[in-house]
Amino acid sequence: MQSEEGSVRLVDVTKRFADVVAVDSLSLRVQPAEFLSLLGPSGCGKTTTLRMLAGFEEPTAGEIYISGQAVQGTPPHKRNVNTVFQHFALFPHMSVAENVAYGLRQKKEDKSQIASKVGEALEMVKMSPLANRKPRQLSGGQQQRVALARALVNRPSLLLLDEPLGALDRKLREEMQIELKLLQSQVGITFIFVTHDQGEALSMSDRIAVMLDGHVEQLADPDTIYDSPASAFVAGFIGQQNFFEGTARQQGSLVESDGWTIRSSNQSPDAVDGRPALAAIRPEAVQLLEEQPEDPVNSVPGTLAGISHLGDVIQFVVLTKGHKEILCRLPRPRAPKLEVGGDVWCTWEPDLVHVFDAQQAAVVLADPAATGTDG
Ligand SMILES: Nc1ncnc2c1ncn2[C@@H]1O[C@H](COP(=O)(O)OP(=O)(O)OP(=O)(O)O)[C@@H](O)[C@H]1O
Ligand SMILES: [Mg+2]
Repeated sequence: MQSEEGSVRLVDVTKRFADVVAVDSLSLRVQPAEFLSLLGPSGCGKTTTLRMLAGFEEPTAGEIYISGQAVQGTPPHKRNVNTVFQHFALFPHMSVAENVAYGLRQKKEDKSQIASKVGEALEMVKMSPLANRKPRQLSGGQQQRVALARALVNRPSLLLLDEPLGALDRKLREEMQIELKLLQSQVGITFIFVTHDQGEALSMSDRIAVMLDGHVEQLADPDTIYDSPASAFVAGFIGQQNFFEGTARQQGSLVESDGWTIRSSNQSPDAVDGRPALAAIRPEAVQLLEEQPEDPVNSVPGTLAGISHLGDVIQFVVLTKGHKEILCRLPRPRAPKLEVGGDVWCTWEPDLVHVFDAQQAAVVLADPAATGTDG
């Protein structure tokens, strides 16, 4: 039992609200002390999944186990689970320490116990020096720390976080991402972290569950999600892609697109010969040449239409004869000195090309809102 403390298992969990299927036969396992993110577009069922884990909602069908125990019908306060929300409501008239102590006081815990637990929790989030301040005397990041201390003070085996950094500005959010990850590895509590920011999920998680329409599209570590997306949706939602529409050939190892031949050395179980397919190539996988390469495979000619400086990387926009834009991003020291308006060839390695069936991909291309932002 000890070793299962903090584990989570969802088995075919479905949640319907009238005719809306918010969560659709979702199965998922989370290991004790794992940092797992639920990542996906608005409305894909992230919050509903968390609310079922916390006990605020009961599944319409399926089973949920926390620390190896079935939790059907167990009320929230008996689940040894805590939740931190984006809009964490601290009590404005109470000090930082009183806010953190609130739950323990409600449970009528021993005074000296409370004091030592609160002290420890404030230490964890580096808020001990500000223990006597009121919430309005704190910055947004400091308030979020207090909310975290409050959620951690009774040492839940599972902490659920619903976009907890969403209200913070970018720089503070990035700092808190690092701190939160560090804190999680120190306390050894399972974290399930909801976000629609792919950068946040990539930087913090042990594993990411990419969700779409109430189900999990792919569950894997960040490298696998980024480098080997299991579907066109995952490929397009995480980071940016150049998508080439065309026809699959040779068991999906080739896509013929607009007269070009794009070769992939990755297996494409999806792509059927002769059927519409989509090749995905990341901007950082594209190289630019000023002369035509000898091998016509994986080389697309165009005109350099734009150069933007993104700090440590330079982004080039190449326009093909068919008016397709190809994005290329190169680290500043490796970026060639090129003039806008000149002829260039885009090229890439076949192991950086992923091929998908075009039918599912249509969803990604038709709805740009479903595509993740860089944060
Ligand atoms: N109480 C409810 N009654 C009816 N429909 C609901 C209810 N709660 C959620 N839904 C619907 O279920 C779907 C999933 O909602 P959910 O809040 O889980 O999405 P989400 O992934 O958290 O989205 P966001 O990123 O916008 O927070 C949505 O279509 C939503 O409108
Ligand atoms: Mg939500």
